[in-house]
Amino acid sequence: MSTKIAAEVNKRRTFAVVAHPDAGKTTLTEKLLLFGGAIQVAGAVKSNKIKKSTTSDFMEIEKQRGISVATSVMGFEYRDRQINILDTPGHKDFAEDTYRTLTAVDSVIVVIDVAKGVEEQTERLVEVCRMRDTPVMVFINKLDRVGKDGMDLLDEIEEKLKLNVCPLSWPVGMGPDFKGVYNIYEKQLNLFAPGTKYGDLTALEDLDDPVLDKLVGEDYAEELREEANMVMEVYPDFDREAYLKGQLSPVFFGSAVNNFGVKELLDCFVEVAPTPTGFHTEERDIEPLEPKFTGFVFKIHANMDPRHRDRIAFMRVCSGVFERNTNYLHVRKNKKMKFSNPTTFMASKKEVVEQAYPGDIVGLYDSGNFKIGDGLTEGETLHFKGIPSFSPELFRYIENANPMKSKQLAKGIDQLMDEGVAQIFTKTSNNRKIIGTVGQLQFDVLQYRLEHEYGASCRYEPVQLHKACWIEAEEEEQLKEFLRKKAQFIAKDKEGRYVYLAESKWMLSTAQQDYPKIKFHFKSDF
Ligand code: G4P
Repeated sequence: MSTKIAAEVNKRRTFAVVAHPDAGKTTLTEKLLLFGGAIQVAGAVKSNKIKKSTTSDFMEIEKQRGISVATSVMGFEYRDRQINILDTPGHKDFAEDTYRTLTAVDSVIVVIDVAKGVEEQTERLVEVCRMRDTPVMVFINKLDRVGKDGMDLLDEIEEKLKLNVCPLSWPVGMGPDFKGVYNIYEKQLNLFAPGTKYGDLTALEDLDDPVLDKLVGEDYAEELREEANMVMEVYPDFDREAYLKGQLSPVFFGSAVNNFGVKELLDCFVEVAPTPTGFHTEERDIEPLEPKFTGFVFKIHANMDPRHRDRIAFMRVCSGVFERNTNYLHVRKNKKMKFSNPTTFMASKKEVVEQAYPGDIVGLYDSGNFKIGDGLTEGETLHFKGIPSFSPELFRYIENANPMKSKQLAKGIDQLMDEGVAQIFTKTSNNRKIIGTVGQLQFDVLQYRLEHEYGASCRYEPVQLHKACWIEAEEEEQLKEFLRKKAQFIAKDKEGRYVYLAESKWMLSTAQQDYPKIKFHFKSDF
């Protein structure tokens, strides 16, 4: 069996495509699926982007996406590899969902718009990748438009994303003068030919070959020679080990909408990207080739049909083989569970899965048993690490707007928080509940879903807060003192951990200065 697991693990590449909204994530994902034969026509992947930031838009899109399951994981085979692309929300207000998804992938492709360069959301996403040393590949998109100079972009990526880069292709011209890319790795010139499947490939071992002048014109040939030589001198050669450790990021240039540069990216990706990696738990590290099954839930998705409140928990298989109709231990609940309809996803098709291997994502129908971070094992008690909550940025008090429905409200809040819709903090002084989010839309979605799925209604009230941070002290006495002195600003999160609610930046830095022995954490796993 273990050789079978090894063979399956070797085949798998599980990753996410991430980007600042509008950089071209959906377009690139779709082109990757086209190459993989998972879809036949462009436009088959519905954009999960919300053009207008309204709740009804969001709910409408969610409904259209058929509970988002069809596109949550997109699997296809390419060159004997099983590729699993994990989808992430396109809206910045749901960034936390993306951060959690990143805990379940083995590598990431970051898309950057050549004209906009590194944007705010790109920085945050890559920061999350760096926390786990996730290998990152970069695709600089929209070369058919005028954008920043290639060298400047690489500098920007190194500086803002703190990634060491290694360009594997280099553009010739840009915008209306975009001629194509030179593949430094394969020593091939790919001429831009919009409308063709791959562009027009010419092997070009030596850039001094006069054929280059004929292909792109003397001026561009000269420019490419100069730039490519400089790039090869300045940047390190590709080193797979360094890439796998998250220390070196290959960079490709192209134009996703024109299908250009995508094949180079995919071909390189399947060659070098990591196979399913190990995971950390509080008790021990898990290796994918272990014979016994382990997995954890990284995302929970509600069924949008209000008549069925069941949800789908997305579980990443970490080791061994997951089998249908087999008893597994739900570690947090210390309860045996088996799954009769576990689901896998092949592009738009949903299928019941009999067996799943490390790197695979399985959808488990759930009536409220799971929350994010829950582990399943064959019996061992393992608590998965590294699925943090981040300190939210927006805060509101949440109040019950219909006293007849307080039970429904409590249940709804409880389940939706488990799903990761937002975070809740309960003030220890007066039990008032505060909802914390990354974006405004999360408040609206929470309110909408409480009403439509639980029949409860809530109202928000403003609260002046700058940050919520988890606190910890080595000595019990110090913590007690802090909790006493700051009693008005202390809350507990859903797990019962203490959180300091700082009203302003100044209050936070004063507290940090006054209590040097208290640790203030901006994410929940410390
Ligand atoms: P996202 O998922 O990262 O948010 O981006 P998405 O793929 O939806 O792309 C955002 C916009 O950029 C889309 O245009 C898309 O067509 C365009 N785009 C993607 N790749 C390229 C490229 O290589 N070159 C150029 N010029 N444009 C590109 P849109 O007008 O917002 O949507 P649509 O109406 O074209 O679908």
